[in-house]
Amino acid sequence: MYSEKAKGISASPTMAFDAKAKQMVAEGKNVINFGVGEPDFDTPEHIRTAAIDAINSGFTRYTAASGIPKLKEAICDKLKRDNGLDYKPNQIVVSNGAKHSLANTFTAILNDGDEVIIPSPYWVSYPEQVKISGGTPVIFKTTRENGYKVDPRELKKVINPRTRALVLNSPSNPTGQVYDRAALEQLAQIAVEKNIYVLSDEVYEKFIYTGEHVSIASLGQEIKDLTILINGASKTYAMTGWRIGYTASSAELAGIMGNIQSHATSNPNSIAQMATIAALNGSQDCVKQMWEAFEARRNYMVERFDAMNSVSYIMPEGAFYLFVDISKTFDFKYNGQAIGNGDNFANLLLENNLVAVVPGDGFGAPECVRLSYATSMESIKEGLDRICAFLERLEP
Ligand SMILES: Cc1ncc(COP(=O)(O)O)c(C=O)c1O
Repeated sequence: MYSEKAKGISASPTMAFDAKAKQMVAEGKNVINFGVGEPDFDTPEHIRTAAIDAINSGFTRYTAASGIPKLKEAICDKLKRDNGLDYKPNQIVVSNGAKHSLANTFTAILNDGDEVIIPSPYWVSYPEQVKISGGTPVIFKTTRENGYKVDPRELKKVINPRTRALVLNSPSNPTGQVYDRAALEQLAQIAVEKNIYVLSDEVYEKFIYTGEHVSIASLGQEIKDLTILINGASKTYAMTGWRIGYTASSAELAGIMGNIQSHATSNPNSIAQMATIAALNGSQDCVKQMWEAFEARRNYMVERFDAMNSVSYIMPEGAFYLFVDISKTFDFKYNGQAIGNGDNFANLLLENNLVAVVPGDGFGAPECVRLSYATSMESIKEGLDRICAFLERLEP
């Protein structure tokens, strides 16, 4: 006897595949893991020290449910400094990771049957989170030809009176694509005209290699009022395990989300909040160092993929993923076993050549696999050698 809603929610495919790769590692197999969605760097030392200081000074009790004022102020300063945005602390809700911020948002804005437009390929959790909140995910297909970006004319066609929000994720997980100012202006105009929310998930904003990050909220007061900006500490500061994310929105919506959170989880971890203050207010050199490493790895990855002719990709402009179209291999066999689809491709590659990639099905793009380059250059080189060897053994 389970709820119908709960039964309709699928497991996170990225986590399921990661678990399989980790199990093989535990069995002593030398797996190269391109599956992970987190920086491979340690949390910078000054951030760790702030957390230790918080523990030693007894900052270990409940805090205000939506986050401590000092952290909200640091977030407002960041949004002003980096994004040119003016928010007040009462417009910020600090949560247990950006995933939780997104969940709060959907809970706060959706009534049963309300539609949320999710451009595909999408990050795996958006559709499931919409469903958990009683909403209906409307998958809006984008293509490689248009750079996996939303065509504004097509977008207009799917908006109807039930549409409550558009999800925007720039830079994108899994495609790495970044919306430029002109494209965002077009989308903002539509959102304002149709009066729908924009959930702007900006967790990868610091990892852009081509172009610059523009927050859609910065394009005018009307779109700012409709934007729920989502960001967090996980990706920028290699703090995935600390679980700090936040929203910036209207004060009214922030109040509603704060109420929801106060009953669901109470405050995000007190120690991690202090660590995030150090992250936001401290030197940003650590971010620059990670950016440099990611950029070098991205460049190396695409150079290697350029030399493989049975697969193709679109140049990632940001984040730390390469989204590779493998559909040309579907008619081939490996050791007599048909490839046929992305899941088989990923399984055969993992089982035979010990390389973990994530099948694109969970991202709404079954013709692709996602490779994360948040792993060492040494592993990337070895992993790509193995992928080449795998592709060379495919037979018609
Ligand atoms: C696009 C996107 N949004 C949100 C998140 C959630 O990040 P966290 O909950 O660790 O802050 C992720 C993590 O993979 C992501 O890729």
